[in-house]
Amino acid sequence: MNYINKCLFPAAGYGTRFLPATKAMPKEMLPILTKPLIQYGVEEALSAGCQTMAIVTGRGKRSIEDHFDISYELEHQIKGTDKEFLLNEVRSLITQCTFSYTRQNEMKGLGHAILTGETLIGNEPFAVILADDLCANIGGDSVLAQMVKLYAKHKCSIVAIEEVPMSEVDKYGVIAGEMISQDVYRVSTMIEKPSASEAPSNLAVIGRYILTPDIFDILRVTPPGKKGEIQITDALMEQAKNGRVIAYKFQGKRYDCGSIDGFVEATNAFFAAKSSK
Ligand code: UTP
Repeated sequence: MNYINKCLFPAAGYGTRFLPATKAMPKEMLPILTKPLIQYGVEEALSAGCQTMAIVTGRGKRSIEDHFDISYELEHQIKGTDKEFLLNEVRSLITQCTFSYTRQNEMKGLGHAILTGETLIGNEPFAVILADDLCANIGGDSVLAQMVKLYAKHKCSIVAIEEVPMSEVDKYGVIAGEMISQDVYRVSTMIEKPSASEAPSNLAVIGRYILTPDIFDILRVTPPGKKGEIQITDALMEQAKNGRVIAYKFQGKRYDCGSIDGFVEATNAFFAAKSSK
């Protein structure tokens, strides 16, 4: 049985770290080699069994919709040429998945973006992918597929975590909890962007979540937190108080493609992997 059928992509942020590239172009459309970040995310969601992609966009994000649609002029132009195969992967996604969109009118934070997506999700557990966190599998399942398997066992919200240096905890939501099996923690505390002295551990939440739908009711009454934004970390903390959040140290390699260093690292790694094939 497939418990998680829908994947939400909050993609309304301004991507200010990539200005001027992101002035008129969504950060999620920046490519690693020839593929936009969001396409990697959609491929990962599909690999985890999600066929409904729910994308929260904003002003200036139209190219995401165009990317996951058929471009008849282009198809006509390259039909029968040696370039036609370059569209195979995205064509395959378009036939296997449905894409729906809603707009976040004001950038009030990740929690607010997720709440905006409620209209596309409804009353069922769902996955969330932040496309600027690019996750490469090491051998086995994708990160989201690993989390979906874990959901079947625990039936509660799940966040993906990794260890980061203490000097970087202030960029993340950070958790503490009891280890209940290898790489799996029951979360007792979550703090958004703590200083190194406030941080309860160095276990940082990255851009992969499975959320139970009661998160929407919690988000509706979650006040603005750090940076004046509605934080998903604060809403998850409400679930964690009832023991309903699991943190999972995933197998795989995450690249923070929302930062220039991470973006260049991913580009180099993917290029090296391609060249060695
Ligand atoms: P980030 O803070 O990393 O993205 O948000 P950003 O704001 O676009 O980037 P910078 O810091 O200005 O460079 C994490 C994710 O949450 C989404 C973003 O699109 C990104 O995928 N997000 C954030 C929203 O959709 N809406 C928001 O109000 C905030």
